[in-house]
Amino acid sequence: MERIILDVDTGHDDAVAIEMAASHPGIRIEALIAVNGNSPLHNTLENTLNLADALRIEAPVFAGSPAPLLRSRANAPAIHGENGFAGPVFGPRKKQVQSGNAVEFIIRTVMDNPGQITFVSVGPYTDLALALRVEPRLAGALKQIVVMGGTSGQGNVTPNAEFNIFADPEAAQIVLSCGAPIVMMGLDCTLQTIINPQLIEDIRKTGGRASEIFCASMGFYAESCLKYIHDYPAMHDPCCIAYLIKPQLFSFTEETIEVDTKSELNYGRTSLMWKDPGHIVRFARRVDREGFFELMRDCFRRLKEAGI
Ligand code: BDR
Ligand code: CA
Repeated sequence: MERIILDVDTGHDDAVAIEMAASHPGIRIEALIAVNGNSPLHNTLENTLNLADALRIEAPVFAGSPAPLLRSRANAPAIHGENGFAGPVFGPRKKQVQSGNAVEFIIRTVMDNPGQITFVSVGPYTDLALALRVEPRLAGALKQIVVMGGTSGQGNVTPNAEFNIFADPEAAQIVLSCGAPIVMMGLDCTLQTIINPQLIEDIRKTGGRASEIFCASMGFYAESCLKYIHDYPAMHDPCCIAYLIKPQLFSFTEETIEVDTKSELNYGRTSLMWKDPGHIVRFARRVDREGFFELMRDCFRRLKEAGI
């Protein structure tokens, strides 16, 4: 059983990550934390609350950081819509934001459960970076960190930078150098999970509210990705959850990664450096695409069976 704190900037592919995590008996969500990223915090929080309500997630939903550590906000309305999760329509909800500070929650939960908690970050890494700065013993108390972000080659927001890193490079540098065991799902791997109309159709046929939300959101996401990226969307963030459920789907190399926080041209670039044994990241290289899609279908079937 993986006990996870899931930090999200919901977000279309974030939503699929949340759906998969909520569906699977091998994962226990301790909390969701919404962070500024794809859209400003008030939107990512609203989207996360709506989804948690629809999926009947009992874990608390916290408001995380409203802005990156140092840089100005960089959002992605063209890809995810003005509200960050264009497509699905939600009615009134019961789920309310959890009172209290997200960073304090992270520190308390991890320090009270040493070696037990996996922190999953699928938006900018601002919340975890703040927690690591406030409580330096956090890195030693985490079971592991699993993040979506980075690239060893071309970026997706600038020619050299991937969005989650570009949106808070200083936070990414703090997290990647913290010394905890880290698994990194970068574009090298996540771009192997580009979906297709058949997969959307398969999940539509599953039926239920989760499938309906998926199909409505993929309608918008596919259109925006086809327009701006000239391809169907990749399931970037769900790779982190798929890894926790079925690690054998992925292969890795061990790398030491530095984030460019200085240069204007390459701001947010992740560079693979000479290996430093104290700072090794398991950097995802390949995913079994068909196995990954089958896991996605299975997660939606489980939600339907649970009446969601
Ligand atoms: C990442 O950027 C966001 O737009 C997605 O949700 C994902 O986390 C991909 O680069
Ligand atoms: Ca995301």
